[in-house]
Amino acid sequence: MKTLLIIGIGAGDPDFLTVQAIKALNRVDVFFLMDKGASKDSLIHLRKHICERFIEQPGYRFVEAECPERVRGVADYRASVVDLNQDKQRVFEQMVHHELAEGEVGGFLVWGDPALYDSTLRIVEDIVQASPEPITYEVIPGITSLQALAARHKVCFNSIGQAFQVMPARRLAEGFPEGLDSVLVMLDARDTYCLFVDQEMDIYWGAYVGTADEVLIAGKVGEVAEEIRSTRAELRERHGWIMDSYLLRRRSADEA
Ligand SMILES: C[S@@+](CC[C@H](N)C(=O)[O-])C[C@H]1O[C@@H](n2cnc3c(N)ncnc32)[C@H](O)[C@@H]1O
Repeated sequence: MKTLLIIGIGAGDPDFLTVQAIKALNRVDVFFLMDKGASKDSLIHLRKHICERFIEQPGYRFVEAECPERVRGVADYRASVVDLNQDKQRVFEQMVHHELAEGEVGGFLVWGDPALYDSTLRIVEDIVQASPEPITYEVIPGITSLQALAARHKVCFNSIGQAFQVMPARRLAEGFPEGLDSVLVMLDARDTYCLFVDQEMDIYWGAYVGTADEVLIAGKVGEVAEEIRSTRAELRERHGWIMDSYLLRRRSADEA
């Protein structure tokens, strides 16, 4: 039987790898690498570095594939993601079918944690369901970029006894959720926090968290939004890509 391991590798710092992830890395015969865009070279380099550092026995191999891109600027975002995942599934299927022998273990190194805004779990589940031959798979959790962000800013996700929400920036653009005081925002290409400069809120922002390029800014959103906006633009220009996320928190009446 073929086995697939979906391994969360943490969000940047190789020290984020868990003992469970390291044990899983050491079982893998073939690593499937599929990154995209301007960050591709850096992210593939990091994955290879992680393998060199943590795998004791040489003999594993890498198979790289071109990652399909989502069609951008279309009205139906969800449909564009479903289409993208179908394209990715075809690429994954080819790799598992042609590059992994019976009895071998294939590994997908997923950025952060596989359960958070990542399609690998859904795609692998579909591949396993559709496969004429039996395939087994396991999921190994990783440190998410949000955990890394909170640790670097030394803040909790939630204020005492309250709920919080994790959301992509396109949801935040529709408004701060009713009844909540804390949101964790990912995938923001449009400086969505700038919509809240007139409100009594704090922001804890970080880019490339856990890497040598990490930048952190925190403060009252009205006071630091412009600094974050210009820093983001400069960093994106310098690196050619950016990965950033943030916690936005309403100030309680006594802090405001
Ligand atoms: C497709 S999601 C993947 C999230 C990932 N599975 C995780 O657990 O963090 C990519 C988004 O995660 C956030 N992100 C990932 N790595 C980051 C990092 N090192 N620093 C800041 N934000 C990061 C950014 O918001 C980015 O747009």
